[in-house]
Amino acid sequence: MDKLVIEGGHPLRGSIKISGAKNAALPLIAATLLAPGRHTVRNVPNLRDTRTILKLLESFGAKTELAADGTLTVDSDEISNLEASYELVKTMRASVLVLGPLLARFGRARVSLPGGCAIGARPIDFHLQALEKMGARLVLREGYVEAQAEASLAGAEVCFDIPSVTGTENILMAAALAKGVTVLKNAAREPEVGNLIEMLQAMGAEIEGRDTDRLTIRGVPRLKAADSAVIPDRIETGTYLIAVGAVGGEVTLTNCRPGHLPSVLDKLRQVGLVIEEGEDSIRVARRGALRNVDVKTMPYPGFPTDLQAQVMSLMAMTNGGLSVIHETIFENRFMHVAELRRLGADIRVDGRSAIVKGAGGFVGAKVMATDLRASASLVIAGLAAQGLTEISRIYHLERGYDNLVGKLRALGAKVQQMRE
Ligand code: EPU
Repeated sequence: MDKLVIEGGHPLRGSIKISGAKNAALPLIAATLLAPGRHTVRNVPNLRDTRTILKLLESFGAKTELAADGTLTVDSDEISNLEASYELVKTMRASVLVLGPLLARFGRARVSLPGGCAIGARPIDFHLQALEKMGARLVLREGYVEAQAEASLAGAEVCFDIPSVTGTENILMAAALAKGVTVLKNAAREPEVGNLIEMLQAMGAEIEGRDTDRLTIRGVPRLKAADSAVIPDRIETGTYLIAVGAVGGEVTLTNCRPGHLPSVLDKLRQVGLVIEEGEDSIRVARRGALRNVDVKTMPYPGFPTDLQAQVMSLMAMTNGGLSVIHETIFENRFMHVAELRRLGADIRVDGRSAIVKGAGGFVGAKVMATDLRASASLVIAGLAAQGLTEISRIYHLERGYDNLVGKLRALGAKVQQMRE
């Protein structure tokens, strides 16, 4: 296992390119299962999670090829196995995204239940209830969902209790090939959902309501392979913006979409960062002291839960003020708090709120990464800390940050990846 060793206190300067979004690449890759032929997906990030979903597709019989420039081709003509094994699903919950497409195209699928994860129980009951409404027969046996649909799935009216991101994506893919019209209310509006809708439309799907919480999908008998591109990663973008806030300096992020970070840019401006938005770039600089803000995570366009840990690192560095960070999406997403405390942060957790008292900075120590975004918050703290910070279990970071060490070094950070 590898660890990161960071010598803190070196301001970040220069320019880096933002990679394709993990959470858009995963559904786009799953969607290639919906139609035979040769699919092209561009701007795929080089991540452990994207490699995992490609392994899953290969286990079904698809042929995949990911070029060094991020261009992926998938040939999903011959799918001979319809089972997503526990061994693959347990390493990545998003594997559940293959359920909708397999069931829609082949009329059956067997997908391992993902189980719990570090940030909460994260059930998939919304996905399953919606598929049942569309006529699927589901049996839970030996830790697997066994799904079958008679002739084809049928359109239905579905309303989610909470706007689930992967739930919306699964139902969009299932409904694209269902008979009749599906109306999905309280759908997720995340840009990654919009990216999938674009791809499905290019494949011949009939979908209305993109970027709204009400999606209407008119099922078509078949779809065709298409050429699509993954949108830039707004969470990677936000992570680097926050890093500049914590460490100081001036950085330009290219190949990103400022329009996908409305609440994040607003919040970081309130913190005191200077942010200039270009068409597909953002320039960020820290000038002057950091100010305290309160943050409440919300579905898009609200402040993303995937940046909650990182912004907590930033708030822990102010000079004495208080910030309340309220997590509304996941029930157990404060695993980073104990580790940030080891670096000198003053944070108290009360239910779903963290009360952060600015301690003026961090002091390097040994810490452990617990999940993907928690790890990012430790990297941010380490970059800003006095002295050396050692972060173990960094495989979490490799799940979601493309070339993190290379990009940070390009900005002047002193970071090394070593064997533990
Ligand atoms: N929920 C249910 N039942 C369901 C589905 C969701 O109760 O059937 C609950 C969840 O437990 C949670 C809330 O609904 O409390 C929202 O969860 P959602 O389904 O939207 O989360 P997800 O689709 O599993 C995606 C991202 C996460 C991100 C969340 C929220 C992907 C592959 N994952 O997860 O990304 O945090 O949406 O925005 O898109 C990450 O990248 O680090 C990450 C965890």
